[in-house]
Amino acid sequence: MERTFAMIKPDGVRRGLTPEILSRIQKKGYRVVGLKQMMLPRETAEAHYGEHKERPFFGELVDFITGGPVVAIALEGENAIEGWRAMMGATNPANAAPGTIRADFATSVGENVTHGSDSPESAQRELALFFGNGELL
Ligand code: GTP
Ligand code: MG
Repeated sequence: MERTFAMIKPDGVRRGLTPEILSRIQKKGYRVVGLKQMMLPRETAEAHYGEHKERPFFGELVDFITGGPVVAIALEGENAIEGWRAMMGATNPANAAPGTIRADFATSVGENVTHGSDSPESAQRELALFFGNGELL
């Protein structure tokens, strides 16, 4: 079984989309092995998005992701990394396929409701960044 890190971003939480997104995860059949609502410390946000440090939108991205509560989710299931990315849809909601979370709910590329790890390496790194030893059941 594969594990991945999913997150409901501040725009999703603020708009009350948490139950809708958890419902989609459950219907898909992924197991939630970790779940918490939290404010992201700035250092955690910068580490999480470290690969984008040199991008012009990095400051905006960190401000946004630390600007309100997020919901951190550890998911388990067959092919969960790619599967959860497929459920989210393309980064820019304008390019996201109908029926995906970003197509259905996101308003812009900067506020695109959810995050998902993009590889086994980033899943492992991100799960360790957000969840401590013994927090994943
Ligand atoms: P995440 O799951 O959030 O990592 O999204 P992603 O993997 O689909 O995209 P990527 O890792 O390339 O970018 C990370 C985040 O940076 C995206 O989700 C966007 O919110 C934001 N982002 C990417 N490109 C732009 C951009 O051109 N402008 C702004 N404002 N934000 C961007
Ligand atoms: Mg990414």
